[in-house]
Amino acid sequence: MPHTAVPASARSSSPGPRTAYDLLLIGGGLIGLSTAWRAARRGLRVAVVDPAPASAAAASHAAAGMLAPVSEVTYTEEPLLRLGLASLARWPAFAAELAADSGRDLGDLDYRADGMLEVAFGSDDLAALDELAAFMGKLDLPVERLTGRECRRLEPMLAPAVRGGLLARGDAWVDPRRVTRALLAALERRGVDMVPARVAGLERSGEAVVGVRLAPGAGTSTGPSGEVVRAERVVLAAGAWSGAMEGLPPEVLPPVRPVKGQIMRLRSPEPILRRCVRGVVHGSYVYLVPRGDGELVLGATQEELGFDTRVTAGGLWELLRDARELVPGVTELEVADVVAGLRPGTPDNLPLIGPTALPGLWLATGHHRGGVLLAPLTADLLLEEAGDQQGLAGLCSPLRFQENP
Ligand code: GLY
Repeated sequence: MPHTAVPASARSSSPGPRTAYDLLLIGGGLIGLSTAWRAARRGLRVAVVDPAPASAAAASHAAAGMLAPVSEVTYTEEPLLRLGLASLARWPAFAAELAADSGRDLGDLDYRADGMLEVAFGSDDLAALDELAAFMGKLDLPVERLTGRECRRLEPMLAPAVRGGLLARGDAWVDPRRVTRALLAALERRGVDMVPARVAGLERSGEAVVGVRLAPGAGTSTGPSGEVVRAERVVLAAGAWSGAMEGLPPEVLPPVRPVKGQIMRLRSPEPILRRCVRGVVHGSYVYLVPRGDGELVLGATQEELGFDTRVTAGGLWELLRDARELVPGVTELEVADVVAGLRPGTPDNLPLIGPTALPGLWLATGHHRGGVLLAPLTADLLLEEAGDQQGLAGLCSPLRFQENP
């Protein structure tokens, strides 16, 4: 997509009273782009500031795209489950509207709502699966407990050693790279301005944030350092980099850290799985996500190594070792790609969505392992489209850290 320079009406090198945009997103990853698109659909004037939107550095480039709040539920994280279920319910309309707005067929997004199969390998893994099934039962989650044989009937490529499983029929998945491409097309059609620059700091008027100051970008024509782009509301959506953002007062700097994930994309002429399979192999998790074109994504490691994005032999070995136990046929497949991405982690694993203590500055970050799943809900919460009878905004409020540091 060709980048649009900041229109003259939105630029000023000396601050003035004019507000050019209703909404300005700092960050052109999946969260920034999808929020920009939803806002533009509502008729808002929107800009996205990012030196390289939708680049390979974005977490979504390395995301498998599981929309699986039920399968991925964990014992202490019921609030995250509530957010995930609310966003999963929004995905069918989000996908259909994105397909229409970007001039694509729904099938082009590879959005599939065929459920997810969680399987156990050893006897310890089976015991853990039974405990998980009991926990899910208490939460009234719609899952079916299956024997190993029933699992293989659903997925014939599963190993004979698979001992049992849980089928979450409501879980889904999508191809995040296709979603990103569709978002870029939809943004162009909706007239969203893409500003190919780095943000050097916030523009303030008294306490309030009234825009951003741009740094000169390498190879772009963003104008002189200090150029200001004004907006009614600025949203920081810079993923794992949000916590390291320059020019943000320390009291509103979000507690976001990078959590590395390595994935491997394998290629086969035909899909070898019908649905997502996630498994515990001797206590460690691996997932296998099939794409419509035969690709199979194996993911993902979880590593606390700062901004390190090296793909390592150990990371890939771990993925293949566990995936092969569940689906031995994976070793026959061609390796298409190996990638490492950085998830934006938070101290409580819940995202940061909503206003900060600085008027005019909002956050949409900290989505950790759930950025793709939570994209539709994030946009709705930011745009206050949905009302909030369920109290979801409170769970995501950035003020939970700012008030109780
Ligand atoms: N949502 C899966 C992951 O982050 O690995």
